[in-house]
Amino acid sequence: MIRVSVPCISIAGGEKLYPSSRGAIMALRGIDLDVADGEFVSLLGPSGCGKSTLLRCIAGLEQLSAGTASIHGQPILSPPDGIAMVFQRDALLDWRSIIGNVVIAAQLRGHRAALYRDRGMALLERFGLAGFADRYPWELSGGMRQRVAICRALLMEPTILLMDEPFGALDAMTRDDLNVELIRMWQASRRTVVFVTHSIAEAVFLSDRIAVLSRGPGRIEELMKVDLPRPRDLGVRETPAFAAHVAHLRAVFTRLGLMTT
Ligand SMILES: Nc1ncnc2c1ncn2[C@@H]1O[C@H](COP(=O)(O)OP(=O)(O)OP(=O)(O)O)[C@@H](O)[C@H]1O
Ligand SMILES: [Mg+2]
Repeated sequence: MIRVSVPCISIAGGEKLYPSSRGAIMALRGIDLDVADGEFVSLLGPSGCGKSTLLRCIAGLEQLSAGTASIHGQPILSPPDGIAMVFQRDALLDWRSIIGNVVIAAQLRGHRAALYRDRGMALLERFGLAGFADRYPWELSGGMRQRVAICRALLMEPTILLMDEPFGALDAMTRDDLNVELIRMWQASRRTVVFVTHSIAEAVFLSDRIAVLSRGPGRIEELMKVDLPRPRDLGVRETPAFAAHVAHLRAVFTRLGLMTT
């Protein structure tokens, strides 16, 4: 008997229209994407091509206008259990302490925050923020705030992690550090990750596969497998194989008339 495995995330014929007084905006069209359990897939594309929209549809925060989105074969009709999102803006609450911002993930799922404090503290420690638990978001740097947002997303031990340009606003050195932390975390846990970025190098460093989206309305123009060994560290970026992947994606961007960093 042939067993066909059900993908973790599956989008088929995905389309998203936003109604507006000046006519509908089509954000996505013809999106077909399957993500396997434990796979790290990046969405790469220009501003406005629908990356955040696609992530919100997977998170169950919005519905596609046409086509289907499912997780393990179940249609996504509301935010599914076992899924967490790191938003494009870190969305920390300024009036809550850092640990308060982490354990809110438990409260939002109807649990008592106090029961998750130890787990939250352990996550903060893992991300180098042990001494900041009782500080407030406005006392932290941009990179530290993004670490807190990641801790919050990991608190409920999601099997699927959606990350919307989590490092987009950071300087290059902080971004490198967080890329390394993220890849270590992923290599240890093998969660399913969908990661949005504008950066070709970041996508190649982190991903198993990269979906390149065209200018809006977004459609997947290229789905590239990243054929680099794991585990990876920053040294992989000096290899000819890494350069070849970057060159291929640059050629795709040039063909599509897209600019990139
Ligand atoms: N809630 C909304 N109502 C109306 N239009 C929207 C809404 N959200 C997004 N759009 C439109 O859908 C398109 C895609 O937006 P989206 O935020 O998904 O792009 P993006 O690829 O994430 O861009 P960026 O890289 O700048 O974050 C844009 O034209 C945007 O104006
Ligand atoms: Mg976006």
